[in-house]
Amino acid sequence: MIIKRSPVGVLSPDASGYVGVAILAVLVLSLLYASWTRIKVGRRYPPGPRRVPFLGNMHQLPPHYQHITFKEWGNKYGDVIYARFFSTPVIVLNSIDACRALMDKKGAKYSGRPPFTFHNEIIEWRNLVLMQYTEQWRRHRRWYRVAFESKAVVDTYQPLQMAEAHKLLSDLLQTPDNFILHIKKYAVSIIMGLGYGISITSMDDEFIQHVDKAVHSVFHSGGPAALLVDFFPILKYLPAWMPGAGFKTLAQQVRGSIRDMEYMPLRRVQKAMASGTAKPSIAYSILQETMKDGKLSAADEREIASALGALYAGETATTIHCFVLAMVLHPEVLNKAQAELHRVIGDSRLPDMGDRDALPYLDAVIMEVYRWCAPVPLGVPHQLLEEDDYTGYRMPRGSTVFSNIWAMTRNEQHYGDPERFDPDRFLNIHDESDFNDPRKYIFGFGRRICPGRFLADASVWLAAANIIAALDIQKARTPSGEEITPEVQFASGSVSHPKPFVCDIRPRSKKSNELILRAIRADCPT
Ligand code: HEM
Repeated sequence: MIIKRSPVGVLSPDASGYVGVAILAVLVLSLLYASWTRIKVGRRYPPGPRRVPFLGNMHQLPPHYQHITFKEWGNKYGDVIYARFFSTPVIVLNSIDACRALMDKKGAKYSGRPPFTFHNEIIEWRNLVLMQYTEQWRRHRRWYRVAFESKAVVDTYQPLQMAEAHKLLSDLLQTPDNFILHIKKYAVSIIMGLGYGISITSMDDEFIQHVDKAVHSVFHSGGPAALLVDFFPILKYLPAWMPGAGFKTLAQQVRGSIRDMEYMPLRRVQKAMASGTAKPSIAYSILQETMKDGKLSAADEREIASALGALYAGETATTIHCFVLAMVLHPEVLNKAQAELHRVIGDSRLPDMGDRDALPYLDAVIMEVYRWCAPVPLGVPHQLLEEDDYTGYRMPRGSTVFSNIWAMTRNEQHYGDPERFDPDRFLNIHDESDFNDPRKYIFGFGRRICPGRFLADASVWLAAANIIAALDIQKARTPSGEEITPEVQFASGSVSHPKPFVCDIRPRSKKSNELILRAIRADCPT
């Protein structure tokens, strides 16, 4: 068809019919093309490393420090990355903005958890952290919300936290070399006290032994075959006698340790309730609310035991451990924090939460500890429950979604020289960016955000403030007098704690000893 044109570009009347058809055809084709490309663009996954058949990207995933690899992928492909581990679609979110846009704003879709077949089905450790986004999750989460997610309620826990902070100081004075154990005892004692009204006197306490045994056995029960079950749930049907399926036998023992950890303290509370001697505790409140005519069904008892078992999920001890490492390596920071504390509260008492606002440098130190060694570097993965679209990219249903918290702590635009421990970066801040307060992202995102965040923050602050007020922390020395400088090394794994190191902890003065004794006497006047 020839389209005749007049010299000025107006079509002659005999050509207009053909042209009309042509325009219509072009229009229809353009519309079809546009919608086809839209569908196609909509169906494109976010960028990510090249996948190979069957493995997907498994061959590119290192066994350790995966958060570092995910950040490197981010430098190449952007903040939102698509990968595949065997047949599981995986989305890695390397920025706070992406986590806010997806996990926070689209909570109904992004609040699942991957199946965690090994933990949920083989060990049968069904706690709030690993649970699917179901009615059962809502029930457990409500118990946690009531106990931990209101500032007014969490403030009432301060006397117990203070008393434990004073005991921590006393333990550190008596056997300073065991500082890691003492910090662990501090964190577990707060949980046992609040959770069950149980007071822990030493690390040999039977309850601590049960927690330790259960946590240890969970970490050592896995192995490669157990990990594969998470990707290929069908392997859970392997009989235990088959080569490679030994993890099933081990899992049975682990299950026993977990049951002991969950049931023993709960039974103690039930017994005390029956004899009218129970102290107030979270277990006590939940039992009271759930019991009907003084009776508790076996199913409810199971629910409560496993819900309270998630209390041990906290990473308070890891953070305090990290704080001690930072103080050993940066005496100038410790001196500055001690000077501030001395200026503000003097040396005739130990600090309490009421002093927090008047100690901005100490707060900056704690923010830097949270940033420098974010205890849960990859968060706990979420699962995408429905197909989604993000800036034109297809986010497939069933994807495992990682929030790379560690990448956020190492954002070079906001944190110059991010590996350096430098609390000053949090002073004199004039904008509201989330980067100015790492508590806004190290506790995770959306509806699955850590319910223990206010409690943990208060426990970390109280331990740090009391240690700074009463103790000096220095590098340990070899017998020949040389300083031992700890290496900055964090264990790989879902929780990143500093690798063991030595240091020298001693009282700041004779007066510090007296202050600690006086505080302990005031906490337990009998
Ligand atoms: C510094 C200490 C802590 C850190 C860094 C921390 C960090 C986290 C993170 C990153 C998550 C995953 C959030 C997500 O899925 O996006 C989480 C979940 C959780 N945390 Fe914490 N946490 C701490 C202390 C605590 C404490 C003291 C408790 C107990 C009271 C606790 C109980 C939990 C529970 C039960 C969940 C699972 C919530 C759910 O899946 O709905 N955490 N925590």
